Amino acid sequence: CRSFMILVTLKLLWTLKPPCRTFHRHPRLLVSDVHSQYESVRRGEQEIPKYFNFASDVLDKWSEIEKAGRKPTNSAFWWISGNGEEVKWSFEELGFLSRKVANVLTKVCGLQKGDRVIVVLPRIPEWWLVNVACIRAGIVLIPGTSQLSAKDILYRLQASKAKCIITNDTLAPAVDSVASECQFLENKLVVSKGSREGWLNFNELYKNQPADHSCVKTRIQDSMVIFFTSGTTGSPKMTEHSQGSLGFRPLLCERYWLDTSPSDTVWGITDTGWIVTSLASLFDAWALGSCVFVHQLPQIEPSVILNTLCRFPIDTMISAPTLYRMLVQADLSSYKFMNLKHCMSGGEPLNPEVIDQWKSKTGLDIHEVYGQTEAVGIICSVSKGMKIKPGSMGKAAPPFDVQVVDKNANILPPGQQGEIAVRSKPVRPLGLFTEYVDNPKKTTESERGDFYITGDRGTMDEDGYFWFIGRDDDIIISSGYRIGPFEVESALIEHPAVAETAVVSSPDPLRGEVVKAFVVLSDAFSSSDCESLTRDLQEHVKKTTAPYKYPRKVEFVRELPKTITGKIKRNELRAKEWGQM
Ligand SMILES: *[C@@H]1O[C@H](CO)[C@@H](O)[C@H](O)[C@H]1NC(C)=O
Repeated sequence: CRSFMILVTLKLLWTLKPPCRTFHRHPRLLVSDVHSQYESVRRGEQEIPKYFNFASDVLDKWSEIEKAGRKPTNSAFWWISGNGEEVKWSFEELGFLSRKVANVLTKVCGLQKGDRVIVVLPRIPEWWLVNVACIRAGIVLIPGTSQLSAKDILYRLQASKAKCIITNDTLAPAVDSVASECQFLENKLVVSKGSREGWLNFNELYKNQPADHSCVKTRIQDSMVIFFTSGTTGSPKMTEHSQGSLGFRPLLCERYWLDTSPSDTVWGITDTGWIVTSLASLFDAWALGSCVFVHQLPQIEPSVILNTLCRFPIDTMISAPTLYRMLVQADLSSYKFMNLKHCMSGGEPLNPEVIDQWKSKTGLDIHEVYGQTEAVGIICSVSKGMKIKPGSMGKAAPPFDVQVVDKNANILPPGQQGEIAVRSKPVRPLGLFTEYVDNPKKTTESERGDFYITGDRGTMDEDGYFWFIGRDDDIIISSGYRIGPFEVESALIEHPAVAETAVVSSPDPLRGEVVKAFVVLSDAFSSSDCESLTRDLQEHVKKTTAPYKYPRKVEFVRELPKTITGKIKRNELRAKEWGQM
């Protein structure tokens, strides 16, 4: 029944909407080699395939094209450690090695199609091999971030019923401390040079496995990757994506955001636990035959990032706003980027001031993309060639029909504030998550009328550009005014004293709540007189935005709490303000 829904979805989407001109804008022979067989699906003349596997239908196809000499001599994967180590794989090598890993998972660990595996690894080549191996074997991969505690791991192992966990020496003790409570866990694999008691050694096992493995047949709606997503309340939810949503979607919609070619090199500066890594550094990049560039980057150092852009032929980079905020603080005049042409930012909105500074210092635009773990690749984007409106996250990206809706899921006219929503009925678009696993209540709550509700507030303008106001929970209601933190933060960051800032609500006896700004000062201002600077900042905000939005409270801090993906944890700051922590 669900497969039928997906079929209808695409048919509808691609027939009701005129076939997207963008696909034919730059005809690229190579891309069409892998993509040509789906041309009629794209045009809505044919249903999407019933069976699809990203490894056999995309990666192995690129390998054939490569063998036939019909692809630029660009690697599929290029990894550097920063300490002189380097790994480069062609699509053929990626196939060879990932088949060995598939044999480790199936023959040694006894995993079968549909089984789940938790993978918590830093940015090392093995993470990519395990991903591809799981796709080959139909095993469902659950990526985790390195910041997980023993308690987080326990929750994830129990909730997912994962039969296997793959991690490194750092996290292994945490796994051991909870393993006895995980009745589904059968195997632990450690990626390590040395051996570890009670653990299978990934490195040794995979060297000794044969490289023949036949890819399993998967249906397009089969589960492929599950992400744990944390909200501001409740336990993390398991957001499930299918072969179709992660693997097949980029073959139809790739032009809308990443838009790279087989001769391009893409660098996603993101954590392996974040869905953007799965998109920009795996599915979407490889669907296009591009080279995935990875720097292990144990620490995010601006100078390391800038030097890497100067030394390696990176065409496209994608990262969180935090990184761009850090980079514009550096003296950029001494760096000459080798190939960089296209910069993208996602995860939360980027302040216009940072976009302006990056442009004036590097000559490059930053294109914003807006997505969620629940809706991939991207809900809105500023695609290549599209007019940039600083502060806007761009236009709706097909196959999504994006609207701003009210409490009753009525579509609001341009300019009116409401909740950003993605049409999910009568047919669910490819790219929208399948469900929250084992949580029908939350799945239902995420929908209203014909829409999936993102939980973000915003507006759409007359040109169809979306403007983010804030997470629903982050909105500040002061004396009856609704104030979005992003606008205040963007005004503050224009001030030369401000390197970074987070704006949250704070209790006030008179107004209920008021705007409070946490401010990280830029180096030149770190020793300033705080009282006069506070007044300065307040005046500045009053002049740049509607005066009622100015921060009545300002606190100077050394740093802001952030998630692994670089999002500012406003909920944490807010909880502290309200004495809930
Ligand atoms: C293990 O991975 C984490 C990140 O996932 C990293 O911080 C740590 O340095 C790694 N440990 C080793 C021994 O490589």
